[in-house]
Amino acid sequence: MKKYLVIGSPISHSLSPLIHNHWMKKYHLLDSVYEKRKVEEKDLKNIIDEIREGEIVGANVTVPFKKLIIPFLDELDFTAKETQSVNTLFKVNNKVVGYNTDSVGFWDSIKELYPYSKNSIDPNSLDSKHIFILGAGGVTASIISALKNEGANIFLSNRTKEKADELKKLFPGLKVLEWGKKPPACNIVINTTSVGLIKDEEVKIDFSDYDKDFHKNTLFYDLIYNPKETIFLKKAKLRGNKTMNGKMMFLNQAKYAFNIWTKIVPEINDEVIKLLD
Ligand code: ATR
Repeated sequence: MKKYLVIGSPISHSLSPLIHNHWMKKYHLLDSVYEKRKVEEKDLKNIIDEIREGEIVGANVTVPFKKLIIPFLDELDFTAKETQSVNTLFKVNNKVVGYNTDSVGFWDSIKELYPYSKNSIDPNSLDSKHIFILGAGGVTASIISALKNEGANIFLSNRTKEKADELKKLFPGLKVLEWGKKPPACNIVINTTSVGLIKDEEVKIDFSDYDKDFHKNTLFYDLIYNPKETIFLKKAKLRGNKTMNGKMMFLNQAKYAFNIWTKIVPEINDEVIKLLD
């Protein structure tokens, strides 16, 4: 059997096995299986050894190990290096390489819906727009990396300001705001915090002034996809703003990981999308 894994802690909620096993069956990779494994930091070296020995063919990495895994790897792809965040592992020429497919997965989620969804925004017109990113956790650098070359003004705010300042060292163009403050106007607001994962939790930044007609094109994007609609998105929808959850980003990062391992470009069709419902 060819074994694939997603590692993290907690891991029980991960929907990656559902998606990858679906594709493995669909593309007749009948000798492949994708599992989840809860690991601790002390296990990371063993996981890499297992990949090096071929006992594990490929892996995904999730919270809280996307950065912590880096010292154990032989090589990083460009985006993993830039973001200091790895979500995919694969052995190439006997080296265990860390990839970041979150960034391109996020960008695809923006790109692919335009112009088909009323909630989409034109990915070619982000220059001089204001993008406001909430949070400075493990995945935030991937979002910034995807957006940084589009010419937008990127504002970043995190409850713990020091972590936003750290990200500014990686991406000097960022404008860091105190938690609770907002940029003058936002065309896109992206929640990368974990607030909303638990029902009834709410990001404590007030966007109630985004209810005017000229705000109806502002996109509120929550990376959380379970629950499907966080309070952050519910309120935006009620105000008439555009909304998007993290489902398509999740599926697209999985698509790129699957492609790295198998060279197949798996299809994200309605059947796959429904697996997450
Ligand atoms: P990590 O910080 O270990 O990478 P994460 O889940 O990737 O963990 O990130 C959690 C993000 O959600 C952080 O930006 C965190 O803010 P802090 O850096 O201040 O902890 C943010 N977050 C979590 N709970 C929050 C809350 N109640 N209010 C505001 N932000 C919160």
